[in-house]
Amino acid sequence: MMTFQGSHILSVSQFDRDAIARILDISAKMAPYAARKKRCYVLEGAILSNLFFEPSTRTRVSFGTAFNLLGGYVRETVGQENSSLSKGESLFDTAQVISGYSDVITMRHPKMHSVAEFAKGSTVPVINGGDGANEHPTQALLDLFTIQSEMMHYQKGLDNLNIVLMGDLKHGRTVHSLSKLLSLYKNVKITMVSPTALQMPDSVISTLENAGHQVVITDTMAGNLSCDVIYQTRIQQERFASKDEADLYRGHFSLNKEVYQKYCRENTVIMHPLPRDSRPEANELDTDLNDLDSLAIFRQAQNGVLVRMALFALTLGVEDQLTQFEKDVNWHTNKR
Ligand code: CP
Repeated sequence: MMTFQGSHILSVSQFDRDAIARILDISAKMAPYAARKKRCYVLEGAILSNLFFEPSTRTRVSFGTAFNLLGGYVRETVGQENSSLSKGESLFDTAQVISGYSDVITMRHPKMHSVAEFAKGSTVPVINGGDGANEHPTQALLDLFTIQSEMMHYQKGLDNLNIVLMGDLKHGRTVHSLSKLLSLYKNVKITMVSPTALQMPDSVISTLENAGHQVVITDTMAGNLSCDVIYQTRIQQERFASKDEADLYRGHFSLNKEVYQKYCRENTVIMHPLPRDSRPEANELDTDLNDLDSLAIFRQAQNGVLVRMALFALTLGVEDQLTQFEKDVNWHTNKR
C-alpha cells in the first residue's frame, strides 16, 4: 500500500487500486464537513501555500476551501507576474523558500513536469494542481469519485465502465490523467471522439490497450455516444500557437440536448472538468442540458473539495483523527 504521509502527489501513475480506494473512502468521510453538518479542525495551525502560476477558478479555490474546512490556514500567490519567478528565480529556490513557510504546497504551472521539478526543492508535500498539458491528478481523482458516486445509482461501479471522452484530447490534461486511472479497472470501454489533429497522445492509448481495455478512436459523434458516462472537454486555447489555430477546432463537438437525446443513452451521465466554453462559437456543453439530472458537472466540481480534503488529510497523516477534532456549526447555513 502506498504511503501517503509526507508524500508528494505529482502523477496518477503513483496510485494503484488500493491507494485510490483509500482516497475515495476518505473523501466520502469529508462530506459532513463540506455540507457544514460538523466542523473539523484537525489541521488547526497548519499552513498551505497555494501557488497558482496559471489561471484557475475551481482548483485554486477548492484547494483553499478544503484546507480551511480542516481548520488550516492558506497563503496564496497567483500569476507568475506577481511572483519572483518573473525576476528569474528558479523553481528549486522558490520551493526551498516556500516549503520553509508551509506544511504542504499546492501548485499549478503552465510548463509540463514543472511541479515535479519544484517538488525536488521542497521539504514538505507538494500536490500537483496541473502542469501544462501533462497531468491534473487531483481532477482525475475527483472525476473518479464522481463516476463512482453517479454509477452507484445504477448499481454499477468503476469496473465494466463504458465512457466517451470528447473534445481536445491532445491538450486536455484531465483526460490524460483520468484515462491512466481508468486503466487500473476491469473491462473498460473508452471511446475517444476528437478532431484527428487533437487525438489522445499515443502513450495514453497504449496504457489502456496494454491493460486490455477496448479503445475506440473516432472523429464522429453519430453512433459513438452510447455510453454510461460522456466526459466533454474544452478546446485548450492556451496550448495552441494562436487563437486562430484553436478556432479551427471550436464548435465541432458541441453537446446539446438534441445531440444527447439522439446519440446517448437515456441516463448517460454528463461530465466536464469545467470551465465550459459557453461562447456561441464553441458552446461545447449547451446550457439547454442544465435541467437534466444526468448533468453532473456541478456535483463533480463540489466533489473536488472532498477529494482535496482527503489528500491533505492523507499527506499530513491525520486521516484517522477527523472525528476527534469535530465541533458543531454555529452559524446559519442552507447547505444541509
Ligand atoms: N477543472 C479545473 O481545473 O478548473 P480550473 O481551471 O478553474 O481550476
